[in-house]
Amino acid sequence: MEIISENKPFAYKNQDIGQGRGVYISTYGCQMNVNDSDRMYSLLEMANFTPVDSPLEASVIIINSCSIREKPVHKVYSEVGKYRKLKDANPKLKIGIGGCVGQQEKEKLIKNQPMIDFVFGTDTIDTLPDILNDLILKEESKDDKKNRIVKAGFAHREPYHVETLVRNPGVSTFVNITKGCDNFCTFCVVPFTRGREKSRPKTHVLQDIHTLVKRGVKEVTLLGQNVNSYESECGTSFADLMKTIAKETGIERIRFTTSHPKDFDQYLVDVIAEHQDKICEYIHLPFQSGNSRILERMNRGYTREQYIEKINMIKKTIPNVVLSTDIICGFPGETEADFQDTLSMVREVGYETIFAFMYSQRPNTKAAKFEDQVPDAIKSERLQRLFDAHNTMAFDLAKAYENRILDVLVEKKHDDESVAGNIKFSGRSRQNKLVYFEVPAAHSDLIGRTVNIKITKAYPAVFRGDMVGSIN
Ligand code: 5AD
Ligand code: SF4
Repeated sequence: MEIISENKPFAYKNQDIGQGRGVYISTYGCQMNVNDSDRMYSLLEMANFTPVDSPLEASVIIINSCSIREKPVHKVYSEVGKYRKLKDANPKLKIGIGGCVGQQEKEKLIKNQPMIDFVFGTDTIDTLPDILNDLILKEESKDDKKNRIVKAGFAHREPYHVETLVRNPGVSTFVNITKGCDNFCTFCVVPFTRGREKSRPKTHVLQDIHTLVKRGVKEVTLLGQNVNSYESECGTSFADLMKTIAKETGIERIRFTTSHPKDFDQYLVDVIAEHQDKICEYIHLPFQSGNSRILERMNRGYTREQYIEKINMIKKTIPNVVLSTDIICGFPGETEADFQDTLSMVREVGYETIFAFMYSQRPNTKAAKFEDQVPDAIKSERLQRLFDAHNTMAFDLAKAYENRILDVLVEKKHDDESVAGNIKFSGRSRQNKLVYFEVPAAHSDLIGRTVNIKITKAYPAVFRGDMVGSIN
């Protein structure tokens, strides 16, 4: 998931704004980063700052960066550059870099870009109020160097203590269960930017969910780099954690991401099948490459055959399962024949959604040093062929939903798009499909309800339908 901020030059319209305690966060990257930004807003709100919707109203701008694939440092600098006029108009404006680029680059960011006032990492989010208060306290000092702060170490607390701080949890929200990763896939920067894997205590996770339910949350997505290797301090596995959540909390729906094929076992599949009243039958299981030699070079810990065996086990136990995956094109040493194995895997498994990327060399990773890098032109041509191959299949898979009735948890009301006495709503089905529907204006309070929607039109990314039957 990429969330790219607006690419417009900014200028204060009014000299008075930007002088208060408004905070604007620009978020890039995965769900983990989205969740981290929400946490930053919550912490700062508790410290008397106010979240604002635009950099124009901010006295603090934070770029929560991502370094998983692109040219992340350049992106950060170019976004900071866009704020030059704001900084000129308001020298008190503070600009900070958080997230994976902050973790990776640390003081280098400040050295290269004098407009940056502070840098913090993925493990020091909780220090954000202190960083800002320190900066404000030091404001009067004329020593420019003293006014810069870098906090980007890794915390060594065991286990992983972090409460879910959600400002406006809405209908569906993330709950962190693990952080970091120990897998060291040879292409991946995460073990370096997020550190070693740690699991949150089970009691904390349950407490969070109880609290969220009381605040009206209907669906949680359990979040971690590899949720399947969750292990609480008393040895609770991921499967047992989900079982307890399903049995002991009032949450209506449970989702989870991301899974790792090597840790996905029959017991977990049995738990999902047994608790399908709550656990959604949608599984995101990245395979990365369909070729066993490449998988070995990636250090993924499974072969093509083992992955397919897992998929067969899942399909046998959960016949209505919907699958999605992540794929990398042009990993070092990938030949046309290896790539064909990836194409055939997509067809064989029948993924409804794929997230596919060109391989990108990341700092510190083993694969970045492999000598047989694939030229960019080949990577991008393979990626296009992969999308084309999937697209033909995805339209047919979507079409099969037409005339089916799906349980849709309503998340949003689209007042601006509602016409002639009708109100437009959208929500997600258990299969993670985004579904739009319209109802007469009398039904104005559907948010948080689960409704039956008969699908009238289904495209790969979005469905439309009509409400049928009663409202839950
Ligand atoms: N190059 C391209 N894609 C990558 N991913 C992770 N690291 C890289 C990289 N260096 C992809 C993987 C992962 C997803 C989150 O991002 O497919 O599952
Ligand atoms: Fe990266 Fe592999 Fe860990 Fe996923 S499992 S975060 S791809 S190292």
